[in-house]
Amino acid sequence: MASPIKFAHVVFRTSRYDEMLRWWCTVLEATPRHASDFITFLSYDDEHHRVAIVNFPDLAPANPRSAGVEHIAYTLASLDDLFGNHQRLAGMGITPYWTINHGMTLSAYYRDPDGNQVEFQIDITDLDQADAFMRSDAFAANPIGIDVDFDDLIVRYRSGESFDSVTAYQEAPVAAAGSERADVADARVGSATE
Ligand SMILES: [Fe+2]
Repeated sequence: MASPIKFAHVVFRTSRYDEMLRWWCTVLEATPRHASDFITFLSYDDEHHRVAIVNFPDLAPANPRSAGVEHIAYTLASLDDLFGNHQRLAGMGITPYWTINHGMTLSAYYRDPDGNQVEFQIDITDLDQADAFMRSDAFAANPIGIDVDFDDLIVRYRSGESFDSVTAYQEAPVAAAGSERADVADARVGSATE
């Protein structure tokens, strides 16, 4: 047995073919490697295709209560790219339904036209810190994270606040007072400095 060497691509079937193609080309800044009325293969890096979209008319709508993939996630290169992407997409009316600091990533979640959920993230710790955090009691108590407001973070970052400060895993002082998440934040800061 051997583990795979990479995650290659994801394929969606849809009845909103043109809408889905526009959305995925836009959010990934991808271009078609092959396109027909039946299937399109999208590429944005050195892989021949990262996303393919297949046109099936008259599919039943996705049911969020059925078993399946919760979301897929993409890592961007930098905080500038994450925030820049957020603003670029917002300018086209594509906005996240959830923005969160997971402790080891800062993330924004979107839904495509069919409701498939996509996370865009950056790592905000190194691998050792992420590993320690994910083994901690704090992570066991809250494996999801702390909601954040990207528009607020962008203003702070652009006004000169540091990467570490903008991505710090802690709630605003008012919200944190007496909350169990404040304990989580304290533990997270502790694990990062061990
Ligand atoms: Fe995720």
